Amino acid sequence: MTTGKAQGNHAQVPEAIEQVLLSQETIAARVRELATQISADYADAHSVVLIGVLKGAFIFLADLARHLTVPHHVDFIALSSYNRGAVREGEVRLIMDTRASVADRHVLVVEDIVDTGHTLDYLLRTFRARPAASVRAAVLLSKPDRRRVEVPIDYLGFKIPDVWVVGYGLDYADRFRTLPFIGALKREVYE
Ligand code: PRP
Repeated sequence: MTTGKAQGNHAQVPEAIEQVLLSQETIAARVRELATQISADYADAHSVVLIGVLKGAFIFLADLARHLTVPHHVDFIALSSYNRGAVREGEVRLIMDTRASVADRHVLVVEDIVDTGHTLDYLLRTFRARPAASVRAAVLLSKPDRRRVEVPIDYLGFKIPDVWVVGYGLDYADRFRTLPFIGALKREVYE
């Protein structure tokens, strides 16, 4: 693996990264804030089910869940989106459903990023139809400039510009997911 400059005393920053957008510390602090807010909002709920959207949300979900002070379950869903492909724009396909039924339960969808909004729109409509007791979304990153469909985000970590970001669960061709920070990829890597 090629490594470049060091980020503080922590991780090496790969050469493919143009810039660190969000440091490990910045992300950790914001995730703690979101967990505090979510714990307060669900204080009266019997239980909440966090539904992580694979693969990108796995690290955000793990960190968020461990800071919650309310009872919760964890489940996952996997989708395939064709937003960047040649197939019809916005088409989302369910690859793996949740293990447990969400009927009458408080659902919190956990996403790493909202880009066009098609994926979250699909998820919110799907869970509302089942029907869940309530459906909200916790999203680490949002790219407002890329939005094609408006979606409500109840808990948002950060708004970011329209650059390709990797790390903390996010990938480029399945690489860079386990970087501890979020970095912008150099254009020449993906163009
Ligand atoms: C990413 C991300 C969201 C979706 C957002 O998933 O995790 O699920 O795209 O895009 P949208 O707002 O334009 O619908 P991706 O398809 O990259 O899969 P991955 O999480 O497995 O990397």
